[in-house]
Amino acid sequence: MMRIDIATLFPALCQAFLNESILGRAARKGLVETHCHQIRDYTLNKQRQVDDYPYGGGCGMVMNAQPIYDCCQAVIAQVEAVGRPRPHIVFMTAAGIPYTEQHAKRLAGYDSLLLVCGHYEGMDERAIEELADEELSIGDYVLTGGELASLVVADSVLRLQPGVLAEPQGYQEESYWDGLLEYPQYTRPEEWRGRRVPEVLLSGHHQNVAKWREEQSLARTKKRRPDLYKDWLQKNGG
Ligand code: ADE
Repeated sequence: MMRIDIATLFPALCQAFLNESILGRAARKGLVETHCHQIRDYTLNKQRQVDDYPYGGGCGMVMNAQPIYDCCQAVIAQVEAVGRPRPHIVFMTAAGIPYTEQHAKRLAGYDSLLLVCGHYEGMDERAIEELADEELSIGDYVLTGGELASLVVADSVLRLQPGVLAEPQGYQEESYWDGLLEYPQYTRPEEWRGRRVPEVLLSGHHQNVAKWREEQSLARTKKRRPDLYKDWLQKNGG
């Protein structure tokens, strides 16, 4: 059963997300385990300050290496104390390698992950050098902190754990559909605001439904994501 720890300045925010919905239910069923840790608890100064001015000047503040390091060491000790191997450590930064579903599948294979969130303008590079097994970015935009990024990684990794999703992962994983955008979905009623559900979906003809969905997926991918379409054609001998 997989465990994810998050080191952050906003543990309550992160834990609140993880306790809701599908991931919260999975945790209550004992299918996954999540723990969020306050980096500020590991400061050594009276003001509990976690950041300082950047050497070399410039605007903004930089997170100190020490509280990040001590927080991570405490988490590693806690994880090992319950008989698990040392967690795989991922730092969330805008300068990291771009995160994709391929990374999610790989990270899903670890016994435990420790996701580390920066805040302010960044963190002292030496904390990353000392601790990080890898550094990931969730996309080409800048967030105010790594919290949303860590939750994106936790969510996409935990949904791959056995039993977390209601439906068995069937055709979503390693199949024809892998790398294509989803086809459009519809549910009741058959007509809403003058818009009818495509007739083929009401026909009960499974083969025609499958063919329609495939066409929709391919057309969407070609139009919206020519990069994915090209890769998919290559993979599927197109
Ligand atoms: N921290 C700030 N921006 C980020 C991003 N795009 N991905 C991961 N961590 C971040």
